[in-house]
Amino acid sequence: MPTFRVFMKEPVTDIDPRLYGSFVEHLGRCVYTGIYEPEHPAADSEGWRQDVLDLTRELRIPIVRYPGGNFVSAYRWEDGIGPRDRRPRRLDPAWRTTETNQVGTDDFMRWCRKAGTAPMMAVNLGTRGLPEALALLEYCNHPGGSAWSDLRRQNGQTAPYGIRTWCLGNEMDGPWQTGHKTAAEYGRLAVETARAMRQFDEKLELVAAGSSSPKLPTFLHWEEEVLGHCYDAVDAISLHIYLGRGKKSLEEHLASPALMESQIRDVINACDFIRARDRHKKEMMLAFDEWNVWDMDAVPGVPPGMAPWSEAPPQVEQTYDAADALVFAGMLLVLLRHAKRVRMACVAQLVNVLGLIMTKPGGPAWRQTIFWPFLHGSLHGRGHLLTGWLQDAPVHDSPDFGSVPLVDALATRDGDSLTIFALNRGKKAAPLEVVLEGGRWKVEAHEQLVAADPDAANTLRRPDAVKPRRNAATKVLKNGLSLKLPPLSWHCIRLEAGASA
Ligand code: AHR
Repeated sequence: MPTFRVFMKEPVTDIDPRLYGSFVEHLGRCVYTGIYEPEHPAADSEGWRQDVLDLTRELRIPIVRYPGGNFVSAYRWEDGIGPRDRRPRRLDPAWRTTETNQVGTDDFMRWCRKAGTAPMMAVNLGTRGLPEALALLEYCNHPGGSAWSDLRRQNGQTAPYGIRTWCLGNEMDGPWQTGHKTAAEYGRLAVETARAMRQFDEKLELVAAGSSSPKLPTFLHWEEEVLGHCYDAVDAISLHIYLGRGKKSLEEHLASPALMESQIRDVINACDFIRARDRHKKEMMLAFDEWNVWDMDAVPGVPPGMAPWSEAPPQVEQTYDAADALVFAGMLLVLLRHAKRVRMACVAQLVNVLGLIMTKPGGPAWRQTIFWPFLHGSLHGRGHLLTGWLQDAPVHDSPDFGSVPLVDALATRDGDSLTIFALNRGKKAAPLEVVLEGGRWKVEAHEQLVAADPDAANTLRRPDAVKPRRNAATKVLKNGLSLKLPPLSWHCIRLEAGASA
């Protein structure tokens, strides 16, 4: 019988809340008719959709990456500041659309304030470089008395934004990237840009662009070369992954988070190798700043037949089904398991584009299936990751991903609150004995999302077709839980400390 033994007094690591970050890119309808739609009945006086803001706040997202993604690699940030009627329309080569620049840096910063989040700002190292990155930094973070900072003041923002976290370009290893570079070219550019930004403010947190997929032939060669140049100059290296169903069986789809797990291990090994080889002191952090489920066969980036250079067309709008929510939950468990090194992660993306949230222009906003496991993690997977041993879980022998446990579980503790996350990827119900080593606990709430119909999805017409339900029957007996996980199910079990926890 699968057993999950949790050691209450043995935290593995604290969990950086930024593990629950997200991403807003100028792509498709993420910005326009996603977060910003001035004509919408629910828009506030600045044009932000309040229904989307409400859902974003519900998710307690601590950091949001912006403005791309592939978009940033040809972006001229100066186009997006100042009076809206003077902002130029530009062609975005990444997504073959017309960018109206009605939303830019200052606007996004205002949105962040309303959403209760912080920015993770990306600079363009594709078509541009160090001078433009420094100019943006000065515009955002210098108090005043210089050309760029005075321009920000003139644009209505007197106080500097103090943006701490910066991405040095995006997916520069990808041949699709505007201004794609070799690892040597990018490594040099990254180190020089990082050093110059640190001359401005040594406390900045800088993220170098790592491999954009573990499937690329340059995976790890890229990390080796890039970190060889910039290890000391940056704080973190980025990882990206999208797992899609494609032609896979349901079992294989559900097993695919194993690829993300090996990707993290491999990147940690690459970082630690460079650290040892080049005698660096610090440990490199991982910033998993794009992750999600994405069926690229069914939902291509630029759909065939899309009118080129249109404004904010629907692009990369995947409707997630209940099975995708379980894959997503599996990915979340992988991130949490590696929380010691993965200090930031951004689910890509927030709205419409691979969105946690979907919107109809002029109409409602609703939660996709993947919204729910993200919410559970973000609200209840904070504090510390606890030592937990999962034993005797049945496995799926996957041709692509090896031997993958059908049951996965993990425990986090935040003061007097303990959360057990559990996932059953199997098509059969699975028992799970949870042993709580230390203290007395009582169940506060058990929410479960059961993919009784794995293809069920939330849509405009049926926005709540897939959502978690309370399981009121779960109780602590003899310092443990005796669970029966329904087939294809995700669980968030919250416990509160009783006496002497
Ligand atoms: O998130 C969608 C796209 O996926 C991003 O623009 C890019 O960085 C990645 O390839």
